[in-house]
Amino acid sequence: MTHSAPDLWQLLQASAEVLAQVRAGRSTTALFDALDPTLRPGVQALSLQVLRSLGRALALRRQLASRQPPAASDALLCTALALLVADPAPYPPHTLVTQAVEAAKRNRATQAHASFINACLRRLLREREQLLAAVQEPQARWNHPNWWIERLAQDHPAHWQAVLTSGDKPAALVLRVNARRVSREHCLSVWSEAGIAAEPVGDNGLRLLRSQTVVSLPGYAQGWFSVQDAAAQRAAPLLLQGLVPAGQRLRLLDACAAPGGKTAHLLERTEADVLALDIDADRIGRIKDNLGRLGLSAQVELADAAEPAQWWDGRLFDGVLLDAPCTASGIVRRHPDVRWLRRPDDVAELAAQQARLLQALWPLVRPGGRLLYCTCSVFKAEGQDQVQAFLARHRQAQLLPSPGHLLPGIGSVDARLPDNPEGEHDGFFYALLQRG
Ligand SMILES: C[S@@+](CC[C@H](N)C(=O)[O-])C[C@H]1O[C@@H](n2cnc3c(N)ncnc32)[C@H](O)[C@@H]1O
Repeated sequence: MTHSAPDLWQLLQASAEVLAQVRAGRSTTALFDALDPTLRPGVQALSLQVLRSLGRALALRRQLASRQPPAASDALLCTALALLVADPAPYPPHTLVTQAVEAAKRNRATQAHASFINACLRRLLREREQLLAAVQEPQARWNHPNWWIERLAQDHPAHWQAVLTSGDKPAALVLRVNARRVSREHCLSVWSEAGIAAEPVGDNGLRLLRSQTVVSLPGYAQGWFSVQDAAAQRAAPLLLQGLVPAGQRLRLLDACAAPGGKTAHLLERTEADVLALDIDADRIGRIKDNLGRLGLSAQVELADAAEPAQWWDGRLFDGVLLDAPCTASGIVRRHPDVRWLRRPDDVAELAAQQARLLQALWPLVRPGGRLLYCTCSVFKAEGQDQVQAFLARHRQAQLLPSPGHLLPGIGSVDARLPDNPEGEHDGFFYALLQRG
């Protein structure tokens, strides 16, 4: 059966629905998965652009409409506004306006507002420069919520603007080569024959120079590689470097493991007994699937890592990886919805969860062993401040040389990420703690 390509008005309608759902608190990952396959690539591309320009679109809508229209019409209006001011614009402005109005007319939930949407969008076409000049508040300027911008500026006074700018740029796909299956050079040469351009990044990573679906890359089914950002690829080498087993084999705990990216990386780099935990029953199967595709094995358990009494056999670990739940404020390049989904209170709530996990897992590290604490957050409350508070409570813990906050667009605040002088990676925080 052949499907004809969807019309632009259909893509706009579906993108507006995605925006309405994000504003109601749902993440785009699940929304994209639920889309009709014929709409999915187009809606995904448009929605990511909309979310990257939403701050400006909301400010423009406040200028253009004295009252906010009902949710469905507002979402369609904001979708069209965001795409009209996106850089680069995905379609010529007049096409976008005509198709947005068509989308409004063809949906019962929005048809009563079709003329209103038309009037607002045409006014933006006529008065674009004046309207844009009038929307200068931080949220419109940086396309992130005001509370987020304030927190970032306070945490990183010298770098916050670069971090926000990088957050609005699409990120290239970065893969980690499975050293147990193939060398990076072999992978590169097979891809180059297939016309796929990539460049090395970090110890064992590859950055694709043109976007492509992962499963269509040669070697995917054979477990040659996994998707993993360059900053996330620091975790396994940091924990393993210089770590020796107290017994015959390394005993490692990956406390918050799903979907298993870092568990797999640990196993690709070393012979070890790895216990991988996660509290989320829906995500735990993905650890097993990923390890299976890569030809690796670990003991995978559904458990609350903060309650060792329920799952720990009493034997200490040489190394513990705590890739803690966090705001994910470092991965907004790939997930631009995150900034609109988070609420200011989430930071303190997640920091409390992180502290509870650190507190519960530290006694499981053998003397001389290590715990690597990390989050994909750029906020200090989930990074530097968290670790300083931990060190103040645990005098026998020693902070070993660690990257600290790796800021996208900057590199590390303390030391730049090798091979990534431009800071072309997600935001991450790493602290390597050794037990005395
Ligand atoms: C940042 S993600 C982990 C990503 C993973 N390490 C990787 O590299 O693929 C955080 C994970 O922590 C899990 N989590 C949150 N609270 C937990 C807890 N108390 N115990 C175990 N897992 C938890 C979440 O379900 C989520 O899968």
